[in-house]
Amino acid sequence: MHKNILVTGGAGYIGSHVSVRLHEEGYNPIILDNFSNSEKSVLAGLKNITGKDFKCYEGDILDPSILTKIFSENEIEGVIHFAAKKAVGESVEKPLEYYKNNVSGLVTVLEAMSQYGCENLVFSSSCTVYGQPDELPVTEQSPKKPANSPYGNTKQIGEEIIEDTVKSGAMLKSIALRYFNPIGAHSSSEIGELPLGVPNNLVPFITQTAAGLRDKLTVFGSDYDTPDGTCIRDYIHVMDLADAHVQTIKYLENHTESSFFDVINIGTGRGNTVLEAIHSFEKVTGQNLNYEIGPRRAGDVEKVYAQVDKSEKLLNWKTKYSLEDSMRDSWNWQMRLSRKS
Ligand code: NAD
Ligand code: UFG
Repeated sequence: MHKNILVTGGAGYIGSHVSVRLHEEGYNPIILDNFSNSEKSVLAGLKNITGKDFKCYEGDILDPSILTKIFSENEIEGVIHFAAKKAVGESVEKPLEYYKNNVSGLVTVLEAMSQYGCENLVFSSSCTVYGQPDELPVTEQSPKKPANSPYGNTKQIGEEIIEDTVKSGAMLKSIALRYFNPIGAHSSSEIGELPLGVPNNLVPFITQTAAGLRDKLTVFGSDYDTPDGTCIRDYIHVMDLADAHVQTIKYLENHTESSFFDVINIGTGRGNTVLEAIHSFEKVTGQNLNYEIGPRRAGDVEKVYAQVDKSEKLLNWKTKYSLEDSMRDSWNWQMRLSRKS
């Protein structure tokens, strides 16, 4: 009997890739999504990859009745909680929407899990909780810095809510995965990232520029204290990230303590500059990208990349894909999108 894993936000960028990996590893992903930042066509993509119609509930994590319905209709072994709003800039303009969706939403999910005795939770956190770390690579012990956006604050608060719940003696085993910069797409190009409007993130902006949808990419700042002056990030292929989630579910299942909370960095351990990312894209696609150097973007940290010892040891997991693999898959996905539109 396949174990059911509730994947909130499972139609989204990361959740859809995780659902594929769960299926491949013998789990049965059950998706809950309100499609506020995804399209139903993702479900067709999932079927094309796996040959299976995943069970999907259309609804909102803020609505306890949909959670009651899911938990009463299915025996849920664990929850991977992706559903959240994620645009940093928008969160500054609409903080209450972010606190409601990301914080109240998590509380609603935790209440439903408690009511139905579901003990395993993976929470999507972010390296944004570290701000600009004092030391690199950044370890899980590095102190959290004051969040520089309401979005970042929802991730810090989310981790604290789970930790407090565990401290209260609740039967809850949970890991917050602090993702670095997820990029890439499934190699089939059936699923990938679907940015709405003008992308904020580097890689969708690169691929849209190369596809002719944007005139040029602006590199935000070249006067940072890095080898070529541009910011450094830890770009991780979304399928490596997906694999880490499956390993985390297995870790929670096998963990003997009945109640605990921990945090794990999920990155590659390598930092790349913006210019290196651009050149990697140019190399794998054979295209010259139209870009120019512009001013710094407010709020950007100079450099951040993960120390990965803890993830490798606890999850028995290592990344498999290179930056070039990620760029190739992002580009193939962009071409697929361009053909569809
Ligand atoms: P995404 O927007 O592609 O996916 C989120 C999904 O959740 C979407 O399908 C959306 O429709 C759904 N959703 C949002 N609010 C909902 C609600 N109230 N009820 C039901 N469904 C809802 O985002 P993603 O990139 O896949 O990110 C997934 C998680 O990972 C988020 O929690 C995000 O904050 C976190 N994260 C993402 C990144 C990144 O760079 N992509 C980095 C760090 C952390
Ligand atoms: N960049 C450009 N030009 C662009 C877009 C981005 O030069 O058009 C640069 C940024 O300045 C940064 C790098 O590319 O140096 C990566 O930027 P992204 O926007 O792709 O990613 P961020 O690291 O800024 O943000 C990501 C997630 C956030 C999360 C944060 C945590 O998008 O949700 O990581 O650090 F909060």
